[in-house]
Amino acid sequence: MVKLQPSSTLAIPETARIPSHIAIIMDGNGRWAKQRFMPRVAGHQRGVEALREVVKACRGLGVGYLTVFAFSSENWRRPVEEVSFLMSLFMIMLEREVAKLHANNIRLKIIGERSQFDEKLRKTMHEAEQLTENNDALTLTIAANYGGRWDVMQAVKSMLREQPQLAQSFSEEDLRPYLSMSDAPEPDLFIRTGGEQRISNFMLWQLAYTELYFTDVLWPAFGRKELDTAIASYQQRERRFGRTSEQLEERQKTRNRNA
Ligand code: IPE
Ligand code: IPE
Ligand code: MG
Repeated sequence: MVKLQPSSTLAIPETARIPSHIAIIMDGNGRWAKQRFMPRVAGHQRGVEALREVVKACRGLGVGYLTVFAFSSENWRRPVEEVSFLMSLFMIMLEREVAKLHANNIRLKIIGERSQFDEKLRKTMHEAEQLTENNDALTLTIAANYGGRWDVMQAVKSMLREQPQLAQSFSEEDLRPYLSMSDAPEPDLFIRTGGEQRISNFMLWQLAYTELYFTDVLWPAFGRKELDTAIASYQQRERRFGRTSEQLEERQKTRNRNA
């Protein structure tokens, strides 16, 4: 059984200056390419490089978890050529990058519905996860054929399969272990590049109290500097989790007295 992390709705999580979990919607690849008169897929290719830089930066900063949206459950609606390009890019990326991730003590995890991927890709995904499963410098989670609604639905289904007696009534605590990211803290910081201000069915459950940050920078152009700007914005936020500012000030005073 996985070790559950505190839930923002059941308890008040500890927060730190450096977010322990960053979740990113890597959007804007197509527009980046279009601006350069290149095919959309060239933007996806450059997107992999941006991801490499952000992973390295997070590892250096001591961010524990980085979760990135690579392919949504709705992205199958795109032209077949683009979908198949994305599938082969995913495969190539796994094959090429996993040794490097492993050498840097990075754990790779993939969340999403796998049954729609072909067998070879599923095997490569599984092998990459197995190879890196004991690494603990950073957990990089790739959301592929993932949807926030899918996640909640699959969690309910798995829970009821294992514990049919819960069909009458169950709690948030009962459901939590079955959600995709149950072993990670909830994201502290959510970043969406590409200018759109929406969640697009990303981690609907887990983003309950996450700080949201939107930037017009297109994903292939996002790098260390932009990440630092996002974290600086996060550091200005007051995370109240339902309480008042006065309560937070009081709590800080007590802490300072006891320090
Ligand atoms: C994000 O970039 C990558 C995926 C959704 C796979 P887009 O491909 O959505 O790029 P834009 O939003 O069309 O520019
Ligand atoms: C969200 O981007 C999914 C990923 C980045 C993988 P989209 O480009 O698919 O989102 P919408 O369609 O603009 O909401
Ligand atoms: Mg997009």
